[in-house]
Amino acid sequence: MSAQIKHPFVAECSTGAEWWRSAVIYQIYPRSFADSNGDGIGDIVGISSKLPYLSSLGIDAIWLSPFYRSPQMDGGYDVADYCDVDPLFGTLGDFDRMLEQAHDKGIKVIIDLVPNHTSSAHKWFRSALKAPAGGGERNFYHFREGKGESGELPPNEWKSIFGGNAWSRIPGETQWYLHLFDSSQPDLNWENPEVRAEFEGILRFWLKRGVDGFRVDVAHALVKEPGLPDWDGKISEDSGINFGPMWDQEGVHEIYRSWNKVLKEFPGDRMLVAEAWVQPQSRLARYVRNDEMHQAFNFDYLLARWDATALRYVIDTSLAAAAEVGAPTTWVMSNHDTVRHTSRYGLSEPGLRPNGIDASREQPDEALGLRRARAAALLTHALPGSAYIYQGEELGLPEHTTLDAAHRQDPSFFRTDGVLIGRDGCRVPIPWVSGEASCGFSVAGDSWLPQPDSFSRYSADVQQGDPQSTLELYRQLLKLRHDYALGNGRLTWLPSAQGVLLFENGPIRIVINFTDLTTALPDGHVLISSVPIDQPGVLPANAAAWLT
Ligand code: NOJ
Ligand code: CA
Repeated sequence: MSAQIKHPFVAECSTGAEWWRSAVIYQIYPRSFADSNGDGIGDIVGISSKLPYLSSLGIDAIWLSPFYRSPQMDGGYDVADYCDVDPLFGTLGDFDRMLEQAHDKGIKVIIDLVPNHTSSAHKWFRSALKAPAGGGERNFYHFREGKGESGELPPNEWKSIFGGNAWSRIPGETQWYLHLFDSSQPDLNWENPEVRAEFEGILRFWLKRGVDGFRVDVAHALVKEPGLPDWDGKISEDSGINFGPMWDQEGVHEIYRSWNKVLKEFPGDRMLVAEAWVQPQSRLARYVRNDEMHQAFNFDYLLARWDATALRYVIDTSLAAAAEVGAPTTWVMSNHDTVRHTSRYGLSEPGLRPNGIDASREQPDEALGLRRARAAALLTHALPGSAYIYQGEELGLPEHTTLDAAHRQDPSFFRTDGVLIGRDGCRVPIPWVSGEASCGFSVAGDSWLPQPDSFSRYSADVQQGDPQSTLELYRQLLKLRHDYALGNGRLTWLPSAQGVLLFENGPIRIVINFTDLTTALPDGHVLISSVPIDQPGVLPANAAAWLT
């Protein structure tokens, strides 16, 4: 039986041709991308130096994780000044030059906006601490009286995502402040109109500079249920997503409607992409209604196991939910918060998402994980909608799974005494040149996190020009995807054997074998395959091909 997913309904005021509907967007985690000045930390000039590489990869846009002034307690997701570049990463001038160079190459630039919380070093929080309890600048945040006889207990039982309490007490006071993440990241109070006005100003500041859009951090958290009620701690066992009163409240949508209007004040198709860990897909689609954001990360796809039925279900439900609201869906396999999918696919439960991997845990099968990741790339880039690539994914980089505790920096590791291993293993600096110190990441050979020995084999220079390499596979895939306009296409399932998916998008048929056995390769000309096809008519195990 074949089922057809209709081409997304295109809303009246949309041209349907906006670049973000089908774009391939490459995520840069600036501190780990390329270091130009030898301090062991990636920077904006380093990003500029790699624009020719990104251009030849064939991406449409880059998304930069935060580079703003920040004490770096959570890799820059603790912002102390939203309108300046941290000296660690360069200057506003460096940013402007990078933006111009990217635009000259036809690459759009999306930056990260962190509206749920500031750094505790932000001037708003410093003023709030100085203000009297119960008034003034304290209204920028969620300050509450503690419970107990002398306020010694937190106002409610909410827990931080990074472990421990979601409340910290102000020394010498009965007041506490809310932080869904680290204690250095106080949550802003979005009921306060001044907070809303400040952020509209921040959007305009960057839109005027010419950015093409914003990735909105924890977009589902800004508004909390009134009264901040206690919560039973219910968490989805499968995805780890929780459904507490701090997430996915109706009030967030009004904020995104107002931001949509701000973006429309500027020419070009500026966009907003939501980081919202909500389920089911119909809830996620509410963030990308016609007058709100433009895209939302598809985390169901990232969370899916290496399994034909599971992935087909996610593909169907996400295409259908996005089509209901006239938005494109997105396809995401990895990011800076998740064990790299090359390594997840090499676990005994392939695709499982552990919270970091260290030497004491199951070590992924590196070759098998990479083989599946290459096949998954053929699936992802054949799907209609927009696709994301996390830096290094195009090199087939594995997670650093044996990083020593002494090097770890993720606050979740420290807040849980190491129970959560954390996200450092996917943030290891990119290997550019094999044989050089830090594999060419830094001009001085330093690297803020050590790279595993294997990175030398994965270096970009080793892969460049080798037709069997993952880098060249990605280049070819992106070119074909573009030439055949697959991002704007439509998907039609075709009958296939168990454990195999077969579908059509335009003139291309895509077949993915999720099993450990060979399967029949459909008739036709093989345009590209994730492993060599040595035997005519046979698709090897854990492999994929595109055919015409
Ligand atoms: C999501 C970001 O992707 C993550 O890196 C960060 O720690 C949290 N939001 C808090 O900002
Ligand atoms: Ca640097």
